[in-house]
Amino acid sequence: MKNVNGTKQKTASGEWAVEARGLVKNFGDNRAVDGVDLNVRAGTIYGVLGPNGAGKTTTIRMLATLLRADEGTTRIFGYDVAKDPNIVRQLIGVTGQYASVDESLSATENLIIFSRLLGLSRVESKRKAADLLEEFSLTEAAKRPLKNFSGGMRRRLDLAASLIAQPPLLFLDEPTTGLDPRTRNQMWDTIRRLVKTGSTVLLTTQYLQEADELADRIAVIDHGRVVAEGTVNELKASVGTSSLHLSIQNQQDIQHARQTVERVLQVQSAVSPEGAKITAPMADADLVTDLLIALREARIPLAELSVQKPTLDEVFLTITGHGAEENESTNSHKSEGVIA
Ligand SMILES: Nc1ncnc2c1ncn2[C@@H]1O[C@H](COP(=O)(O)OP(=O)(O)OP(=O)(O)O)[C@@H](O)[C@H]1O
Ligand SMILES: [Mg+2]
Repeated sequence: MKNVNGTKQKTASGEWAVEARGLVKNFGDNRAVDGVDLNVRAGTIYGVLGPNGAGKTTTIRMLATLLRADEGTTRIFGYDVAKDPNIVRQLIGVTGQYASVDESLSATENLIIFSRLLGLSRVESKRKAADLLEEFSLTEAAKRPLKNFSGGMRRRLDLAASLIAQPPLLFLDEPTTGLDPRTRNQMWDTIRRLVKTGSTVLLTTQYLQEADELADRIAVIDHGRVVAEGTVNELKASVGTSSLHLSIQNQQDIQHARQTVERVLQVQSAVSPEGAKITAPMADADLVTDLLIALREARIPLAELSVQKPTLDEVFLTITGHGAEENESTNSHKSEGVIA
């Protein structure tokens, strides 16, 4: 990817966009980040997944030179954030839970100002602003001042602004929180396109599906620690077996179908509350053939059958011992920010 200077970014360490070791951040006696290691390969999408208060934003702020780590080191493309923060800042863009745009100006004006600040000419800035507004479906709102923008529109403009420079490494802090499904999909496409053209993206998310859709690798963080790291498939595999989901056409067959499943797969099954769907763990996906034959012999017509990998929700539950939502209640005091 080209940066603002029109040159392809040469880096001290071509392979790793981020190498963080033992990052720690204390806020008073709250250890918000508690020894985080992260390695992000250049040209990939890396997902940091965790519930509210897990330490995602604090980690990103340390990686992006916005917050000094109490302990640990970070290299961005080989440059130490503590020793060479100015070089690092030229290699990164940050967008996320904090506003980066001027309220009284319109979307177009904001983008033009950012472009000018980054050294683009007046004509280039105008074109860049128009292109980005189009890409983020903001063309109609282009002339409105930001204070009249909805949360989702702001978020899109925030990302658009951070894309002007097309930095080699982009930190996206919860890029799709609060977006409607259509806009979320657009955002995903944009992120994928960025990476195709050479950028590296580190994003945080609370959405398991988002990490699943986008990320090459994922770190799951909980209470300031990385509790699991790997590819989506590795994380799913760490939960073990795949699972069978079976729906039958006639509800009166359900007990018979269930017995058949349990006999063939040699496992316990579960029936959904509405009574038409059977789920069961499967150690060996090949057994599905035997199961289909047995169901045919028993004359049980099927409505639907699938063998799925566990969802990331199930992975999270297995790894942390609680669901992805649970930290929210324990951190509900966090917005008051009273930790002395
Ligand atoms: N500036 C601050 N001063 C004091 N405590 C803070 C500050 N920033 C974060 N914290 C605390 O650090 C912990 C981690 O917060 P952080 O914002 O990094 O979590 P997060 O994973 O980004 O959560 P969310 O999903 O809600 O954005 C929380 O307990 C929070 O209360
Ligand atoms: Mg956060």
